[in-house]
Amino acid sequence: MRAALLIVLGLFIGILGTVFALNALRQHQPLSHSVMSLMDHHAGELRAALKAQHCEAAPMRQHLTRLLQTQADIGEAFPGVDQPFLDEAAKLHDKTQAALDAAPADCKALAAVLKPIAETCQSCHQQYR
Ligand code: HEC
Repeated sequence: MRAALLIVLGLFIGILGTVFALNALRQHQPLSHSVMSLMDHHAGELRAALKAQHCEAAPMRQHLTRLLQTQADIGEAFPGVDQPFLDEAAKLHDKTQAALDAAPADCKALAAVLKPIAETCQSCHQQYR
């Protein structure tokens, strides 16, 4: 009787462990997707402004700032990645910071700062996505 109880207890603990492990795995996914989706939103707003040829300094600065802030979570969203991945993330940070520093005030300036950002998104996706 005691042995049977121990087996049941063991099974229960095993199942519980599996559930916890699966939850932990699933939790990484939403964060990585959220970080990327949010970056995509802000980059998309900037692309849309360019397409509409309606480039105002204040909203451009706002989207670039949010793009930069969101990148700070890339490391947390992708735990255990290798150094080249982190290098790509650092490159994206540098390009976005440079874009903010350039403070684009018209569409021509926006196009110039968006290009290296878009190239960095693409180069990381080609290797890791
Ligand atoms: C350091 C590498 C890296 C950089 C830089 C990067 N991404 Fe990603 N991105 C990834 C990876 C890896 C995935 C796949 C994530 C997944 O499936 O969980 C991804 C997925 C995405 C997705 C799909 C999201 C989803 O829900 O599956 C979008 C949209 C995206 N990235 C946009 C961007 C944009 C916009 C930029 C540039 C501003 C960018 N990414 C820069 C690595 C990167």
